[in-house]
Amino acid sequence: MKYSTKAGKLDELRTHCLITTTHTARSVARALGFEDYFDASSQDFVDKPGRTLLIVLPKSTSIRRLLLAGTGAVDELSPNDFRKVIGAVGGVLKGASFTDAVLAIEGFKVAGYDGYQKARVALALLSAQLYRFMASKQPDDTPTSQLTRLAVHSDLRSHANTGRAVRHAQALDTGMAFARDLGNQPPNVCNPTYLARQARQLARTPRVRTKVIDERELATIGMGAFTSVTQGSATPGKLIIVEYRGAPAKQAPLVLIGKGITFDTGGISIKPAAAMDEMKFDMCGAAAVLGTTRAVIDAKLPINLITLVAAAENMPSGSASRPGDVVTTLSGQTVEILNTDAEGRLVLCDTLTYAQRYKPKAVIDVATLTGACVVALGAHASGLFANDDALAAKLLEAGEYVWDRAWQLPVWDDYQQQLKSNFADMANVGGRDAGAVVAACFLSRFAKQFAWAHLDVAGSAYTSGATKGSTGRPVPLLFQYLLDQS
Ligand code: BES
Ligand code: MN
Ligand code: ZN
Repeated sequence: MKYSTKAGKLDELRTHCLITTTHTARSVARALGFEDYFDASSQDFVDKPGRTLLIVLPKSTSIRRLLLAGTGAVDELSPNDFRKVIGAVGGVLKGASFTDAVLAIEGFKVAGYDGYQKARVALALLSAQLYRFMASKQPDDTPTSQLTRLAVHSDLRSHANTGRAVRHAQALDTGMAFARDLGNQPPNVCNPTYLARQARQLARTPRVRTKVIDERELATIGMGAFTSVTQGSATPGKLIIVEYRGAPAKQAPLVLIGKGITFDTGGISIKPAAAMDEMKFDMCGAAAVLGTTRAVIDAKLPINLITLVAAAENMPSGSASRPGDVVTTLSGQTVEILNTDAEGRLVLCDTLTYAQRYKPKAVIDVATLTGACVVALGAHASGLFANDDALAAKLLEAGEYVWDRAWQLPVWDDYQQQLKSNFADMANVGGRDAGAVVAACFLSRFAKQFAWAHLDVAGSAYTSGATKGSTGRPVPLLFQYLLDQS
């Protein structure tokens, strides 16, 4: 979708579709001389959040359609109702037979939102709804949106804010679509090699460099936990590094780390067959950090950002690791692998240690790490864990702002004892209780040198069932956090 801004008088616009409140629509219709037609067409319309009415105007107008978005004719919408209003608009635009539209955002007042936030929230919602994954499916009879251009109309006073919102929304739209495409690709296409190729393409932009560390080198460096996961797969694992320089070199970078398990069979501790296909989404953390990076590059944010993707496939094979194997991590700490299905923490722990060399301001890892997190929070919130309260607070706030929410869970020492091993410094699993917390506790042992946060997105990064697919979360949260930092 191509976003833009528009100012000037509404009734002088030229567009296929003007999206607006009933109130504003009526005054536009009046100015165009269609008041009676408008009143007749809209007389049965129930004006409340979630309802819409598309009115096609007589041929001679420069505005071809009015899309009424019900608001209940209140002075101010609650943020919840505003999302409902825009959600309903998105529902109509999904099947749009026209190519351009204008959203007259000024008519919608939202409690607690300024013009910038209002436009950001609206465009984020529309982007999310209008996305479709088309790479590997024949077109079916589901109506596809023809819409390619959407302008946000605001008056001159708020034009600068709207412009900024549109620029950021555009970058986020691109980053989200990139993340979702990566997530939705089948696992025979999206393997570690593919992720590396996609990351390399980011480096076609100035100020971006991509490096790929292959499996042999990972072993040489001493990433024994990482390679214990990759060793079972015919497709070699990789550590993918994207370096973005948007600020002077002396400014400490932020580091994003993504779990990039392109397929998680569980390894020798193999998973049950039901819904195993969904383990292609086990690289959604990687997709999210790459998508965020793409948005940061597009928006040219004045920050330094390092993105690390731990890419591997977790397969059972003659060369796979066994339950009981003891490996030495890059940090020097040893790990007894009691369950080969707890592979995410194994690739992440070495990547966290690797991040140390950047002397980062903060490190945030994103991972579809535990089924336990899905049990705890479902799809509504990502699980947030941190060793730094200020960092956690900023991430929670960013998520709230763009409605991509997270909820913090503890990383207390009390849970650490569950990871005791008789044969190594720690085990990679710690029983059934508090699985998401124990996984975070495991990671925390490799994040002692910097401010660190971990987002468990096992429940939020993709959906199952009829709407099965990648959601692109938590790209909005991360991008907002980085915007706030710049
Ligand atoms: N990728 C899974 C976590 C997962 C499960 C994500 C379900 C989304 C939906 C992860 O690698 C895993 O298998 N975790 C195990 C950990 C356990 C062995 C301690 C789990 O959650 O069962
Ligand atoms: Mn697993
Ligand atoms: Zn996994």
